[in-house]
Amino acid sequence: TQVRVSVPTLIACKGKQKIAALTAYIAPVARMLDEHLDMILVGDSTAMVGYAMPDTLSITVDMMAAHAAAVVRATQHACIVVDMPFGSYQESPQQAFANASRMLAASGAQAVKLEGGHVMAETTRFLVERGVPVLAHVGLMPQYVNTMGGYKAQGMTDAAAQRVLEDAVAHAQAGAWGVVLEGVAESLGRRITESIAIPTIGIGASPACDGQVLVTEDILGLTNGKIPKFAKPYADVGALISQAAAQYAAEVRDGTFPTLDQCFGVKR
Ligand code: KIV
Ligand code: NA
Repeated sequence: TQVRVSVPTLIACKGKQKIAALTAYIAPVARMLDEHLDMILVGDSTAMVGYAMPDTLSITVDMMAAHAAAVVRATQHACIVVDMPFGSYQESPQQAFANASRMLAASGAQAVKLEGGHVMAETTRFLVERGVPVLAHVGLMPQYVNTMGGYKAQGMTDAAAQRVLEDAVAHAQAGAWGVVLEGVAESLGRRITESIAIPTIGIGASPACDGQVLVTEDILGLTNGKIPKFAKPYADVGALISQAAAQYAAEVRDGTFPTLDQCFGVKR
């Protein structure tokens, strides 16, 4: 029987081996990614990518738990991390623990990820001391879209960079097992990676980070032609799906599909 990559295994990668991670929200994608990756993130980006919502704010604990459960059932190798949705953890450490434990219990995921600067470090400590491994997410935090007035790279001035560094250090000191660095100046991504003893997992951060995570749809051509600067198109699955759908529809309309090969009870 296969043993899943655990949180301690990912921590031990620091300085030795890069952590390769991608997002997945549904079973077929998770199944195909599993053997290749160390970690699969069930990201709240599914609000935008999977549900066509305008931002990540409206996805619920129940929706995230259901996606995490599907991803866990479809995989056996990668460590599965689930995002805590907006409004499910910011109020208090107690609220965070209630919702984190509910999502882990419902899904079998191994850790949660939460967004927030040093003010959320107390919550990280509360969860970690009670058996919920925490991956912190600092820098560009999409749940702060209304505060930022859009999605903007963070830490671009020395003062702003210092604040993001302090956010990462606070979560590391609180017991987070890793930190996602999203949308930060490259030098800051490098500096944080050198400053903390736990893995940094970058997305639009720095090649120096201990690992990398991207939204799978962003690298597979499944996002309507919009590829963020920090992503890279590895395959155009969107074009393949579109082409297959066009061919199928044409064959249905001109009567070449189905044939008797696809029918039941045909005697020949
Ligand atoms: O929701 C998500 O996909 C994420 C990654 C982009 C880090 O948080
Ligand atoms: Na997220």
